[in-house]
Formats: sequence, C-alpha cells, structure tokens
Amino acid sequence: MNTSALDALRQSLPSLKLSADPGDLEHYGRDWTRRWTPAPLAIALPADTAEVQGIVRWANAHGIALVPSGGRTGLSGGAVAANGELVVSLERMNRVLAFDAVDRTLTVQPGIALEAVHNAAREQGLIYPVDFGARGSCQIGGNVATNAGGIRVIRYGNTRNWIAGLKVITGKGELLDLNRALVKNATGYDLRHLFVGSEGTLGIVVEATLALTDPPPPSQVLLFAVPHMDALMQVFGACRARLALSAFEFFTDRALHHVTAHGAQNPFAEVSPYYVVTEFDAADETQQNEALAVFEHCLESGWVTDGVVSRSEAQARSLWRLREGITESLSPHKPYKNDISVRIAAVPAFLRDMQALLSHEYPEFDVVWFGHIGDGNLHINIVKPEGADYAAFIAECERVTELMCDVLMRHGGSISAEHGIGLVKKPYLHSARSAEEIALMGGIRRVLDPNGVMNPGKLF
Ligand code: FAD
Ligand code: MLT
Ligand code: ZN
Repeated sequence: MNTSALDALRQSLPSLKLSADPGDLEHYGRDWTRRWTPAPLAIALPADTAEVQGIVRWANAHGIALVPSGGRTGLSGGAVAANGELVVSLERMNRVLAFDAVDRTLTVQPGIALEAVHNAAREQGLIYPVDFGARGSCQIGGNVATNAGGIRVIRYGNTRNWIAGLKVITGKGELLDLNRALVKNATGYDLRHLFVGSEGTLGIVVEATLALTDPPPPSQVLLFAVPHMDALMQVFGACRARLALSAFEFFTDRALHHVTAHGAQNPFAEVSPYYVVTEFDAADETQQNEALAVFEHCLESGWVTDGVVSRSEAQARSLWRLREGITESLSPHKPYKNDISVRIAAVPAFLRDMQALLSHEYPEFDVVWFGHIGDGNLHINIVKPEGADYAAFIAECERVTELMCDVLMRHGGSISAEHGIGLVKKPYLHSARSAEEIALMGGIRRVLDPNGVMNPGKLF
C-alpha cells in the first residue's frame, strides 16, 4: 500500500528527489539520540516550497506520516523516523534568499546551517546572535522548531526573539506567510510564535526571516575554578553586577575529565569541583580592569580558587572548547541527557535539592553537570557504565527522571529548557504543563493538522 502511495508521490511530483536507499533510511531516520532504530518509508529531499506543499497534500491524501528533518542534531528524538514515516529533509533548501539593510533582516531557506547564517550576517557587518556547539550541522528550520537557545541566551534570548517572519506549510497543506518581518503588527494572534518550538508537529518551516543586530564590542573569556556549588550563583551575582555579560556557563570536574580526555586543554594545575566560563564586553582597559577586580573580589570571598582570562582570540576559543566540547566528548558513552530549567532566582535551592536527589539515586553512575546556569538551565548527563545493558540503563534513568519531575514541580521548573520534548521527554510533559494546557495544545494541533500527518507521536 505504501509502495503505491510512493508511486503516487512520484507521479504528482516528478522532479522530487526521493530515496529508499538503506544507507539513507538509516542516516535520515535518526537524530543525535541514537536510541531508536530508524525505519522510515523513504526520504524526500524537496528543492522548493511547492514541493514541500505537494508532499504535505500527498501525505493527507494517503494517510502517511511525515517527519520534518533538519540537521538531526536534536537531542530529544524529534526528528526520529522509526515507524514507516516519510522523512522530509530540508537540506537542499539551504540558500540565503535576501538581505534587507534597512530592516536588518536576512531571509533564508530552512535547510541553511546556523553557521552559514552567522557568516552571511557577518558579511553584512551584522550578527545573528543565536549560537551553540552544533552550529556547523544544525539548520535554521530545526532551530525554529525547537526554539533553540545556546550560549548567549543571557544577552540575546532564544531563537524566538530573532524570528521576524516565517513561511510555513501547515499540516493541512496551506502556505502561511506569518508576520512578514513587521516590527509592529497588532492584528490578533501572532501565529508565527505557534510554530516556534512546535517540533514539526504543526507544519513545515519553508522560509525564515531573521532579525540581525550589531556586532558586540570586543570581549574576553574568563574561566573560574569554583570550590563549591553554593558559590556558583555568588560568582554569577558578582559578575552580572559589574560586567556586561554575554555568556555565563558552568561545568563540573567530571565534565572537565571527559572533555580533556577528548583533547581540550585544562589550564589549571589543581582539580576543582566546579568551573564557570563567562564572556563579557572588554572593549577597553576600564572594562578589562573591572573583570580583574571582580575576580579578586570572588577570590577574597572564597567563591573562586583560581581563574584564567583570555588574552587572545585563540585563548578564548580554547577556554570555550572546555565548555562547548562536552557534548561531543560524552557522545561515545551514550549518556542519558537532562535539559532542565528553573527561574534564575530558584537556582541555588534547586541545585541543592537536585544534588541530594542525584547522589542518593545514582550512587554508582557518572553524573556530569554542565550548562547555561546564568539562564537557570542545567544539562545533567548520566553516563552509561561500560558494558551496562542500554535498555536497563535507560529504564533506571527514567525512574530517576520521575523523581526529578517532583523536584522540578516544587521549584516551578521545566523538564525541557531548550532541546524540546520530542520522544525522550514526552512522558514528563505533564510535569511542566497543566492538563488544560496540553488539551489546548492538542486542539491547536488538530486545527493545523487535522489528519495527524505531522510528526505523530512527538511532543504529546
Ligand atoms: P533536527 O534535529 O533535525 O530536528 C529537531 C526538530 O525540529 C524535530 O522535531 C524536527 O521534526 C523539527 N524540524 C526540523 N526542521 C524543521 C522544519 N524545517 N520545519 C518544521 N520542523 C522542523 N540546542 C540548544 O537549544 N542549545 C544548545 O546549546 C545546543 N547545543 C548543542 C550542541 C551539540 C554538540 C549538539 C549535537 C546539539 C545541541 N543542541 C543545542 C541541540 C540541537 O542542535 C538543537 O535542538 C537544534 O535546534 C536542532 O536543529 P536541527 O536542524 O539539527 O534539527
Ligand atoms: C549544550 O549546552 O552544550 C547543549 O545543549 C548540548 C547538550 O546538552 O549536550
Ligand atoms: Zn545547552
């Protein structure tokens, strides 16, 4: 039946690039989670919006599920196709379409890599400020669909803040041109924002108009060694009070262990339980001296025991590598990943409760903490012990996640800060959103995708 459906797709869109090559099914059927066995029906690689629209209309007519696919760097299984779906890879729709110098916007196709957007913005003397380690592989369509965050949210916010306009094909097959890059548009519901963070469940992003901004002043990076958990937010307070921060990130000695085993250079002789990487404007001597004064104040207060400040771009990059290289260094160990958040003010109490929970529940496991602590977002990765059965390991982590949900609920937090719900966090959505909210989301989904063809089984 699905073979005849594919024949119908070939007939209705004769130029559409389709593949059922086993290598492609494997490659495009999974994301970074690598937890599910890929089993898509086929891979479609549309070249333009008309082809995407044709695919969605065909899916409705034939009752075939679609999985929109970007760079597949997602960490929640949102782009996994394990049930005979047609994967719609946007990778061939990867061009810059327009730059507007007055509006300071860049209009791009969804399959363009984040890094290519950075480069295109830089060529115009501007920046697109959303940034993170997957920049070379992830795509703008995926960033929109996950409302990606990253390392400079503290200054610039998430992807949502930078979406001036969106073109989407809804699950019904309609083409919507949302907001058209208007700065002011008080004409009812802003549907653009429904698609940001919708994880491919409402439709397919086929074009995005991105707001750009001025490049920041020259910056420096400071790496602190922090002797205890409580000091992390004391250091944050001291830095934020006196420096113009663009990033405030942390990681533990276990994270340092993995990232240095993967080739990053540790500048410290002594081991410390926690580390902070912070980036701040350092355009002149006054700002640079202020950073040194903050360091001294933290040292005298006992909140840090050591520190290194970058004196060159190369040194800044090597300090950043200690933080940004963690995900790749853990990847071979197939970690169970948590991406949780609380309000910034709730971080100290939350950290204490989480540490108590995790040391009690995971006495034997290697628990690696890192993340965007300045945004209240922690990534707690549990490393699979060598030789342990993967399914049993995941089951044990899921048991502890249920307990973690209770702690999160007590602190008003969220089970996913920036990676999305996908398949991985679906059982825990109820801990962050009320039954009424989930029912409303279901209603919205049914309006935009009445036949349920868009990424079924994901999110809820
Ligand atoms: P995919 O993984 O391909 O897809 C993600 C979701 O978007 C899926 O549900 C998919 O169906 C949907 N989708 C993709 N394209 C479209 C489209 N055109 N229309 C509709 N839906 C679509 N994330 C952060 O937020 N912050 C970080 O700091 C961060 N760092 C990372 C570092 C590394 C090394 C890695 C591997 C990942 C990191 N991530 C981070 C996670 C990931 O990169 C982001 O979630 C990213 O936004 C996913 O983009 P993608 O193109 O790879 O999407
Ligand atoms: C990060 O902040 O490094 C990313 O979100 C990736 C991860 O959590 O592993
Ligand atoms: Zn992150």
